[in-house]
Amino acid sequence: MPEPTIQIFPDQAALTLAVAEAFVRAAEQAVAARGRFLVALAGGGTPQALHELLARPPYRDRLPWAHMSIFWGDERCVPPDHAESNYHQAQRALLDKVPVPVETVHRVRGEWQPGAAAEDYVEQLREVAEPGRTWPRFDWIFLGLGGDGHTASLFPGSPLPTPQDAAAIAVTGDYQGRPAQRVTLTPKVFNSARAVAFLVTGQNKAGTVAATLTGQRDPLRWPAQRIDPDSGILTWWLDADAATQLPSTLITD
Ligand code: 6PG
Repeated sequence: MPEPTIQIFPDQAALTLAVAEAFVRAAEQAVAARGRFLVALAGGGTPQALHELLARPPYRDRLPWAHMSIFWGDERCVPPDHAESNYHQAQRALLDKVPVPVETVHRVRGEWQPGAAAEDYVEQLREVAEPGRTWPRFDWIFLGLGGDGHTASLFPGSPLPTPQDAAAIAVTGDYQGRPAQRVTLTPKVFNSARAVAFLVTGQNKAGTVAATLTGQRDPLRWPAQRIDPDSGILTWWLDADAATQLPSTLITD
């Protein structure tokens, strides 16, 4: 479990460019090594700028879309054309503008009952898993951070992960008036990834970033602390505003 890398950029534009470059490099390496690049996108507003950047040249033309499989770290239980659907937001900003094969875009069926949607997602994960596994090792997972400390749909006070957890579960979480019924991947999926990338921007997240990274270890209160890759690389991609409460000793770049 290597220590997280913390990358801080002057503003969101610089952060987004740096993440796009790292994402393309990871895609090239994954396809060269294994013939595919397995990605889980994050929901919420932060990834929007990155999705829009990846949908335009040069990144649109540098990414190996034909070899990519797209999942989501979590989804709100709303129809796929709902404004609050993570799938819908990514479809509008990115997926409708790039040549990713429709059969490799794996959305949570948010229009179903949450339990059934979670079971279906477990099956979608199983279908692309490597031999002997029931969920795949993702090459790159994006995660966001809520002001309350949640990530994906792992909310403060929610049950701590256990080895018996399914790869995807139905949960309820209230945050900023967003849809509360959700499906989320569980930490064992996140922690088996080759790379996990938190994207966090804005002064309003600075206290949560500091509490998560430098505060007391309390994964019940700070669910992003549950993200601790077994062997993969964990990187916090921050803009300067989100990093204002971090001690200089913690900054690795
Ligand atoms: C969701 C996300 C969630 C998000 C955080 C941060 O479905 O809402 O997966 O975990 O990443 O809430 O959201 P913002 O980027 O909008 O601040």
